[in-house]
Amino acid sequence: MTQDERKQAVAQAALRHVPQGEIIGVGTGSTVNFFIDALATMKHDLAGAVSSSERSTERLKAHGIPVFDLNAVERLPVYVDGADEIDPSGAMIKGGGGALTREKIIAEVADRFVCIVDASKLVSVLGAFPLPVEVVPMARELVLRRLRALGGEPRQREGYITDNGNIILDVLDLAMPNPRELESSINQIPGVVTVGLFAHRGADLALVGTATGVQECTYP
Ligand code: A5P
Repeated sequence: MTQDERKQAVAQAALRHVPQGEIIGVGTGSTVNFFIDALATMKHDLAGAVSSSERSTERLKAHGIPVFDLNAVERLPVYVDGADEIDPSGAMIKGGGGALTREKIIAEVADRFVCIVDASKLVSVLGAFPLPVEVVPMARELVLRRLRALGGEPRQREGYITDNGNIILDVLDLAMPNPRELESSINQIPGVVTVGLFAHRGADLALVGTATGVQECTYP
């Protein structure tokens, strides 16, 4: 099975977690693209979606799935999104696709976070994947200094501006023995919009694409 086939398998499996007649949260990335395509097959059983990026919005609309503003929605029973890494507690690094801020906002509103990944994303300790941090442009140098003081090696993502008009710093070499603490520390730096650590609000369920099929991991 190729990596894309594993992504397709988890995308298809995620449909079982989409309640009928509701608006759901939809993430961003290559795995989510497969999910959006799968969702199109049940679009008449769905009220619509709240989207975490312009890219996902475009794809949802192309399939004729109504896209709602988050402020117009009272509740989201489920949010389906990928991850760059996920640890045994359900904490994740996200933002490889640059959509971390809207992803974190929607995840916070949703009752349930269903993470769809292939097995290459499972790690025992987070941190091999460079940690994305969305930053207000005028705060770049301040945030670079503070991230270095935390022990990381931050680099600005070349030629990339987020959907919110900000820059991304990708941080290498950050030790993450306590992801919740690190998430709080980075959030405290003025100019940081969002850090791509999803530890305070991690996944509730992961659907993991493996060579032998889709495995489910639930987190307390
Ligand atoms: C998007 O900003 C990210 O958080 C994605 O969820 C993450 O990068 C996973 O993407 P893939 O499914 O493309 O690996």
